[in-house]
Amino acid sequence: MAGKTWLMAKRPIRRKARRAAAGPSAPRTLHTRLKTARGRTVSSSRWLERQLNDPYVAEARRLGFRSRSAFKLIELDEQYHLLKKNAVIVDLGAAPGGWAQVAVDRVGSGGTVVGIDLQEIDPIPGARFEVMDFLDADAPDRLRAILGGPVDLVMSDMAAASTGHKATDHIKIMALCEIALEFSIQVLKPGGNLVAKVLKGGAENDLLQLMRQRFVKVHHAKPKASRRESAEAYVLALGFRKDGFKGGDPDDGEP
Ligand SMILES: C[S@@+](CC[C@H](N)C(=O)[O-])C[C@H]1O[C@@H](n2cnc3c(N)ncnc32)[C@H](O)[C@@H]1O
Repeated sequence: MAGKTWLMAKRPIRRKARRAAAGPSAPRTLHTRLKTARGRTVSSSRWLERQLNDPYVAEARRLGFRSRSAFKLIELDEQYHLLKKNAVIVDLGAAPGGWAQVAVDRVGSGGTVVGIDLQEIDPIPGARFEVMDFLDADAPDRLRAILGGPVDLVMSDMAAASTGHKATDHIKIMALCEIALEFSIQVLKPGGNLVAKVLKGGAENDLLQLMRQRFVKVHHAKPKASRRESAEAYVLALGFRKDGFKGGDPDDGEP
């Protein structure tokens, strides 16, 4: 890792985060309705009303998380133990920084968290951020140079802005997942893990096949914090095999 001057004291969110792992336990019963549209479009009014009534949004605000997405990673970590002490972690699509907050807290001061995004991210002590389009041809090499060594976990929460056209959105998110997988194969330590956002139906067959060749187990998960109406899910490829699968019947880890 090139220089660790950015590793500084961080906020003690561990206990709070752990308590929050199960997600907000008592959903609010009072539903807030917008009184006026005030020039908002129907969809932005709907979004605002949903935000106002979302217990995860309220809990994220209370605990100081930058996004409700933080709870998705907390849940995935509780189940799959992804964020190990002193681990080196790459956070693809890190803005505004909810996952990075959780990761920094759980890897501790001996760990490393490097995040990239199309957008600037306000600093988080203990994390390093770079503005980067991961679809740029040179982006994976640039990120590898920043890392300077192998990685324990690649997390990708990257999602392109929705076009509203399902098939197009699916292609876009699968392209991001594919590039996250290719990058993982280049940088993961043996035994390392990948978690990547996909859309309902999970990773596509070709992608799954490659994951099964290169990882001991492949799971799909839909954390409770992921909105039920959203097509989003996560694929977890666990236990990277540096030399690939050597034959037999790869265990996809699915029940
Ligand atoms: C759902 S948000 C991530 C939320 C984040 N995990 C958190 O907890 O705050 C998805 C992010 O992916 C980023 N993204 C989409 N396409 C990208 C690309 N090609 N390269 C880098 N980031 C990308 C978006 O800019 C957006 O900030």
